Amino acid sequence: MSRLIVVSNRVSAPKDPAAGSAGGLAMALSAALRTYDGLWFGWSGETIETFTGEAKIEDRAGVTVALVDLEPQDVDEYYNGYANKTLWPLFHHRLDLTAYERSYGEGYERVNQRFAEVLAPMLEPDDIIWVHDYHLIPMARDLRRLGVTNRIGFFLHTPWPVRQLLVTLPHHRRLVESLFAYDLIGFQTEEWLDLFRDYVISEARGELAGDNGLEAFGRKVCVGVYPIGIDVEDFMGARDSPAGLRTYDRMAASSAFRSMMVGVDRLDYSKGLEERMLGYEQFLHDNAELRGDVFLVQVTPISRDDVDTYQDIRARLDALAGRINGEYADMDWQPIRYLNRGYRRDQLAGIYRAARVGLVTPLRDGMNLVAKEYVAAQNPDDPGVLILSRFAGAAEQMGEALLVNPFSREELSDAIKTALTMPREERIRKWTALMKVVRDTDVAIWRDDFVQALRSIEVADDGDR
Ligand code: G6P
Repeated sequence: MSRLIVVSNRVSAPKDPAAGSAGGLAMALSAALRTYDGLWFGWSGETIETFTGEAKIEDRAGVTVALVDLEPQDVDEYYNGYANKTLWPLFHHRLDLTAYERSYGEGYERVNQRFAEVLAPMLEPDDIIWVHDYHLIPMARDLRRLGVTNRIGFFLHTPWPVRQLLVTLPHHRRLVESLFAYDLIGFQTEEWLDLFRDYVISEARGELAGDNGLEAFGRKVCVGVYPIGIDVEDFMGARDSPAGLRTYDRMAASSAFRSMMVGVDRLDYSKGLEERMLGYEQFLHDNAELRGDVFLVQVTPISRDDVDTYQDIRARLDALAGRINGEYADMDWQPIRYLNRGYRRDQLAGIYRAARVGLVTPLRDGMNLVAKEYVAAQNPDDPGVLILSRFAGAAEQMGEALLVNPFSREELSDAIKTALTMPREERIRKWTALMKVVRDTDVAIWRDDFVQALRSIEVADDGDR
């Protein structure tokens, strides 16, 4: 069996899987790497004054990881710059927040090339390589230039942007062309794949090639939809673990017979946190009689804090949470518990289980796994209600949730009321349907489908790779 090489900006293989801090994706990829005797390659998260061109090899609970230190200028231009100031906002429909400087593009190209140069000599001829996310789009092109002919797949965790926005990016053609050095490109939803096809056909004069192929820039690539999921059994196990149960009891006690709503999101403008709080404020305003019976626990760890747009949204959320609490709180109740910290998986599962409503309202999101975790954590005989943005990739599969337009505070307010007053039979009916989706899109299925598709691609031995 050939080895699997996973490449991503962040290498999240946990040092101690039992510690419960790693997400489902990290656990699923780690499990695959143990099975296929693979390697996880990426940035160490550290900087070094002068790039060495070498990777540090470590063993993390049976998974071999190869970590590369970057120069401070690389981190600035590639990670904070092109990845998080240019591509992230653009791919999340935020042209107003998209910044581009030539140095960002240069840093992005440089780091991708550096990664390729360090990885190429570590490869064996029948390894298959799986590259993840927007940080590393040109990676396959750079590996090909170094003579790598292995199968290489790419999975985009974020949305693909609409063509009319993508064309505002300087050198957009070059970026898309580099994707054609892969053998397989995977997207989370049909919608993102459709938008990719639209660009390739309308802007790059490409053509469809069979059911799952695209031809452009003189190359053919396979494309497909692979919706990511969670490790359902593991998450339910975390919920039922001593720490999960303890957290559930603690939350139930601190609810004091009020209905708890929960939101769990990195502090990111794409998550619709401001809009969510405004929708909740509208609900408090419109429903004086329900007001004191509900509260929101919003778990929001700080993210990408070196980027100015993230500092801005953080300050706005601080002010908004403070304003709503100041306006509506009473001596023994406050409407929002706003927490800038993260929790372990078992604790999160306990919090979700205790929440009558799960609020997942991003303005745009590749998939959103909180929606799936919230469903998996519920009590089958008395489940809570998921309020889900129609602009999350998850909405393509989870139509039984209360789907909302997160830009409308009235719609959010109405959905909160509907969720809080929904009869038990209806909650059970919806939850049963959603739980089936969560099981049918388990992370192991996502991983194995992608790897299987990549393995089975016929590679023409024409030297044109
Ligand atoms: C999103 C991206 C991931 C990224 C994660 C955390 O989910 O798709 O690639 O790792 O955010 O962001 P960070 O910048 O902290 O890695």
